[in-house]
This record gives sequence, C-alpha cells and structure tokens, in this order.
Amino acid sequence: MIKIKNIKKTYTKASVSTPVLRGISLSIQRGEYVAIMGTSGTGKSTLMNILGCLDKPTNGQLELDGVDVHGLDDDALSALRNKKIGFVFQQFFLLERTTALDNVLLPLIYAEKYPVDAVKRAKKTLVSVGLEDRMEYLASELSGGEQQRVAIARALINDPDVILADEPTGNLDSKSTNEVLEIFSRLNQEGRTIVVVTHDRAVAEHAQRILELKDGQIINSVANSKLKNSSDH
Ligand SMILES: Nc1ncnc2c1ncn2[C@@H]1O[C@H](COP(=O)(O)OP(=O)(O)O)[C@@H](O)[C@H]1O
Ligand SMILES: [Mg+2]
Repeated sequence: MIKIKNIKKTYTKASVSTPVLRGISLSIQRGEYVAIMGTSGTGKSTLMNILGCLDKPTNGQLELDGVDVHGLDDDALSALRNKKIGFVFQQFFLLERTTALDNVLLPLIYAEKYPVDAVKRAKKTLVSVGLEDRMEYLASELSGGEQQRVAIARALINDPDVILADEPTGNLDSKSTNEVLEIFSRLNQEGRTIVVVTHDRAVAEHAQRILELKDGQIINSVANSKLKNSSDH
C-alpha cells in the first residue's frame, strides 16, 4: 500500500542543515496495522507527513498504492491524498465553533464535487464512532475523547484505504484512549491500513508490527507477539 525507499529529509534553517530522516526504506502492506515508536524529536511526525504526502522528502522515493508520487503535480497529489488517506492528529484540529456534523462534512465541501448524500454519509460516520447523540454539538462543547472521535469520522468521510494517526491518544485519558484504539482495530478488521505514531508502548501493542525510529533511522521492526484476539473476532 505504501512503499518508501531511502527517504531522507534535511531541514535547513539560518544556513544550518539538520538531517532528520537519514535513509528510511519501508513497505506497508494493504490491510496492515503498523505502529511507529520513538522518543521525541526522532522524526516520527516528519516521516508521517512524508508517508501522507503532506511534505516532500529531500531524497528518496514514495509509492502510494502503486503510484510513484514523485511525478505528480500538486493538484494530482492532493487528489490522490484526499482519496486514499485519512489523517488523525494529537491536536484534533477541529473548528471549535462548528458542529461535529459540519466538521465531518468539511473535507467534502473542499472536494471537487459535493456529493448529494454528503449529510447522510457524515451522519453514518459519526454513528460509527459512537457519536449519534453529539452530532449537533459544537466541537468546543465536546470532551477530548469525543473531539478525537469527530476527527476520526472526518478522516473517514472519503472512505480512505489508509489511516495515518500521529500521536492520536497523546491528549486523551485512558478511557478515551481505549475507545480510539477500539475504533482503529475495527477499521483495520474492515481491511483498512493503519499507521499509528506513538511513544506509548501500550498503544503500539495494538498494532501487528512495531517499528522503532531513532535518530532518523529505523532501528527495529518486529511483529507484535503480544497481539491478542488477532484471529478470534
Ligand atoms: N519545519 C521544520 N523546520 C525545521 N526543523 C524541523 C521542522 N519540523 C521538524 N523539525 C525538526 O526535526 C526534528 C524531528 O521532528 P519531528 O519529526 O516532529 O519529531 P517527532 O515527531 O519524532 O517528535 C526535530 O528536531 C525538529 O525540531
Ligand atoms: Mg511528533
């Protein structure tokens, strides 16, 4: 589903170059659930943004669902991204004074063609994350866990093959964390590819494979032996 080869990323600021990613190669299969771990500042968000085509690498190749993204112009790239990928972030990034329903509709408003069944679809996604009784609440009236579930519904509105989540539980209590992890597991069982960045081992252990990033390199990639209930759902 996602294939990267020798990805490097160097930031240059005030003529000082900082290499952040130092040659990362990685294949993520369709339907896989992968966690990326590592301490703060090791380049996890930088890698996620490159995987999601939100940022471009300094070097290296990226293939998304068989398409080499290098040859695409910005319009083609954002079209591909909108169709294939749903993003979830630690900070939710909802419009505060906007209802849950309208937050979920937002990606469709920016789409080329506003679907006739947009509202129906948005409501269905909100129901699927357990928010049927919160649709008309403003984002600012929701708890952190509810806000993150609205953000997940927004990420799902275009029915993406891939969910990329950067520290999705970083601002949540343990109950809300479990709710989010249950949703991710279900989305994965439905066949979606999930990539979660986290520094929390307990969160990573819901994935099938755990990658460890250090100083801009993958130093470890292991199948998750502690995975429970992987075959008996
Ligand atoms: N836009 C940017 N410009 C310059 N440096 C950046 C930028 N984004 C990230 N960095 C630097 O890259 C390093 C890795 O950042 P990041 O990918 O956010 O790490 P992580 O998500 O693992 O905490 C940090 O040292 C950070 O300061
Ligand atoms: Mg980060």
